[in-house]
Amino acid sequence: MRSYVNGITIAYSDRGTGLPIVFLHAFPLNRTMWAPQEEALSSQFRIVTIDLRGHGESDAPLWSYTLEQSADDVTVLLDQLSIREAVFVGLSMGGYILFAFYRKYAARVKGLILADTKAQGDTAEGKEGRFQMAQTVYKKGPSAIADMMLPKLLSHTTIQTNLSLTRHVRAMSEGNQISGIVGDLMAMAERPDSVPLLGQITCPTQIIVGELDQATPPSDSKLMAELIPHARLAVIPNAAHLANLEQREAFNDIVVTFAQELNISTD
Ligand code: MLT
Repeated sequence: MRSYVNGITIAYSDRGTGLPIVFLHAFPLNRTMWAPQEEALSSQFRIVTIDLRGHGESDAPLWSYTLEQSADDVTVLLDQLSIREAVFVGLSMGGYILFAFYRKYAARVKGLILADTKAQGDTAEGKEGRFQMAQTVYKKGPSAIADMMLPKLLSHTTIQTNLSLTRHVRAMSEGNQISGIVGDLMAMAERPDSVPLLGQITCPTQIIVGELDQATPPSDSKLMAELIPHARLAVIPNAAHLANLEQREAFNDIVVTFAQELNISTD
């Protein structure tokens, strides 16, 4: 489905009924990274997955991006879908956007699931890496990004043994436009440090991380778990950065348990 949001077209899927769970994807992917969650959870919950601006079937305008803008896109889309309050799941960049969302729209967050993400902003070295990646994608196209990102997104074992998953992740990365990839890189480089926000997060929060995640390692998740009041932390074995795809059942179980508890506590 598509909707006109903040002057651009945003693509999304909306499946099932009940407590809404909104999923925000990682860089440089799209909403189909949530297919195993949509498939398994839409019999119990209303599952909304969104192609963030610059990704998948959404528009990728050639202009500067901010993560706050992406958070605003999500809010307008949820207004159009008459969703006032939801559980939000953000993986990596999706998590960065959830921090921006929480800063502005905390009242709409019934629960937060922060997966394979981190609260710290970019270091000077990290920003320089984003700049170099933007130059590479501009010169060589999105397939160069796929080559650079695959070993960060999936474990070595997954890349060696799970060809269909590896192909899907590559196809998602290659399917984005240069304007969207570069827009994201600039937006992530400019995002504020969210560590000071952590102590102010008052909604129920579940943190999830793959034990082999090198992009946002378990130590980043432990920091969030220490600083967000009453947050829970789950470390998924045999998963790297895309824990929801590499260990889908373990990931789904954590999301279902968290959402069911929230549903019961507000019945
Ligand atoms: C992601 O998976 O969204 C990216 O690895 C995030 C980042 O580059 O910081």
